[in-house]
Amino acid sequence: MASVKYEEYLPDAQIRPMHEFDVPVVIAIERAGYGFPWSEGIFRDCLRVGYICRVVDVEGTMAGYGIMSTGAGEAHILNVCMREQFRGRGLARRLMLHLLERARAAGMREAFLEVRPSNTIAGHLYATLGFEKVGMRRGYYQAAQGREDAAVLRLSLDCGPN
Ligand SMILES: CC(C)(COP(=O)(O)OP(=O)(O)OC[C@H]1O[C@@H](n2cnc3c(N)ncnc32)[C@H](O)[C@@H]1OP(=O)(O)O)[C@@H](O)C(=O)NCCC(=O)NCCS
Repeated sequence: MASVKYEEYLPDAQIRPMHEFDVPVVIAIERAGYGFPWSEGIFRDCLRVGYICRVVDVEGTMAGYGIMSTGAGEAHILNVCMREQFRGRGLARRLMLHLLERARAAGMREAFLEVRPSNTIAGHLYATLGFEKVGMRRGYYQAAQGREDAAVLRLSLDCGPN
């Protein structure tokens, strides 16, 4: 059933580079999406240093964005966030596949990311793309009460995402 919904929806979605002028909208999505959002300065720094920054547009509305760094054979997915009303339509999966393809094209051998163990939706998305847990970073994230660990996930890009 989900795949039918995705097929109806995805042709209208476009992935394009993020620009400076996108940052105010990106920040609004970020603040709605996370309890502990990135600052505007972090997004501007990501653009300035040349990280791979992409947004997903659906009929002229920004549905979400993703940011990835690459270097020394490793891609790091640093942020993926979708506007709430655009979730559950396969857009984050499509964005992840786009980023992973870019990483492979740039010669990266592995992709890494961190995720809160409590974020079961994101965890399931990454697992279905083939990411596997390779470690934990203790107290990595801010949390409502103290700190929360991060699970470190890895995907080999030699064989590609599922
Ligand atoms: C995590 C997030 C990016 C997923 O975006 P999305 O566009 O809704 O994801 P998709 O529609 O591409 O779904 C991909 C997978 O996510 C999982 N998923 C999505 N919505 C789900 C839900 N409501 N319940 C459980 N799993 C769900 C499923 O595994 C789904 O795969 P499927 O196609 O087999 O159902 C989105 O929920 C979000 O922006 N959350 C806030 C920010 C965040 O947590 N980012 C990740 C930080 S590591």
